[in-house]
Amino acid sequence: MNEFLDQLNQIVGEPYVFSDLETRTEYGHDETEDLSFPPSVVVKPATVDEVSQILKLANEHEITVTPIGARTGLSGGALAVKGGIGLSMERFNKIIEIDEQNLQATLEPGVITEVFQNTVKEVGLMYPPDPASRGSCFIGGNVSENSGGPKAVKYGVTKDYVLNLEVVLTSGEVIWTGANTLKNSTGYNLTQLMIGSEGTLGVITKIVMRLIPHPTNDLLMLVPFNSAEKACEAVSAIFRAGIIPSGMEFMERDAIEYAMDFIGEEPVPLQPSEQAHLLIEVDGNNVDQLMADCEQIMQVVEQFDCGEILFAEDQAKKDQLWKLRRRVGEAVKAQSVYKEEDTVVPRYQLPALLKAVKEVGKLYGFRSVCYGHAGDGNLHVNILRDEMCDEDWDKTVKVGVRELFQQVKALGGTISGEHGIGYVQRDYMDIMFSESHLELMRSIKRVFDPKGILNPGKIF
Ligand code: LAC
Ligand code: ZN
Repeated sequence: MNEFLDQLNQIVGEPYVFSDLETRTEYGHDETEDLSFPPSVVVKPATVDEVSQILKLANEHEITVTPIGARTGLSGGALAVKGGIGLSMERFNKIIEIDEQNLQATLEPGVITEVFQNTVKEVGLMYPPDPASRGSCFIGGNVSENSGGPKAVKYGVTKDYVLNLEVVLTSGEVIWTGANTLKNSTGYNLTQLMIGSEGTLGVITKIVMRLIPHPTNDLLMLVPFNSAEKACEAVSAIFRAGIIPSGMEFMERDAIEYAMDFIGEEPVPLQPSEQAHLLIEVDGNNVDQLMADCEQIMQVVEQFDCGEILFAEDQAKKDQLWKLRRRVGEAVKAQSVYKEEDTVVPRYQLPALLKAVKEVGKLYGFRSVCYGHAGDGNLHVNILRDEMCDEDWDKTVKVGVRELFQQVKALGGTISGEHGIGYVQRDYMDIMFSESHLELMRSIKRVFDPKGILNPGKIF
């Protein structure tokens, strides 16, 4: 071990190799439940050559390597569950180029998503994927988990923006997966294979993103409903009326109450009868058109027993409402340890999904707070531990989640929309895939990582 540490010191420099308990503990958790898996050593490289040397060395000695981003993940993808090297990518924090001629940018994986968004916005461009944690998460983590966020409903998720990736393979070899072009029909699409592969196939060291012109205007409204299921029914009706909002978020009453409590602000006048809200945003360059869209949305939601609609009259109010929505996850976590499920169904099935969640909860004795990206049919189900005993939490809830996931599949959905499988959802993969399908995936893993050193214990 000492000899190995010496070699790591030589590669990245002693100040960037950490074997003290405090650092290892810090890098041993993300935002997933209360899990803790400290790596044996935390290494912070700064160049692709350093990453290449580390992987080569680790591969030779069969030491596991877990790539670590900002540790905001919700499926334990960055947890070193088998110990070994925790490979923090935080020093890869440069936006290398913004190519205004081609509407593209090249950046390193340790850039904070919101920093990237703000930087390209300064030149009138937009990078839409915006996970709730965008103020602290890394773009590399977003690529590894194929993150989404509220804007995905109109603009798509991370995979829709990545054109090309520089990746270090376990052999130490460095490849570019594609080309910096908008079209590419050349060979297997390794770029898309890497996206969402949760750091199990290679280590991403550079990312080329496509960008779009930033819309000049947006309008935001919050619609209360007297029934959560009715709120969910209104969602697909809005799209069927011909409108694609740039945000269509659902929050159960508990989600809003906890979030208001958590941020210490009360932007929403909650009425006793209101069970859920939709936060709806439209964006574009023509304000008159946006106003007309809002009018049309109002006409639709009125058919679903809604209450008084709140329009955000200025930027401060918009920011406040978005802050409320983005902090729901943290707010619920402040109430109780929870398991966060990331169910997704075809949009029209959203009311059936919500119903299934509540019924399964009743059957297996758990309380859930639901919220999420209703326009995508993507419902986050936070199952609260409250006062549950270990037996119920570790066993009964798992059986309940399995039952829920089976119902999700029957509705035409799947078990993760944007948080990934990582460590905590892998026991449920058999619900979605046959053994031969899983074996096909495992074989791909073996081609990239024959010795199984890269982020072991994930996905399968
Ligand atoms: C959100 C995260 C949890 O939507 O995905 O808030
Ligand atoms: Zn989300």
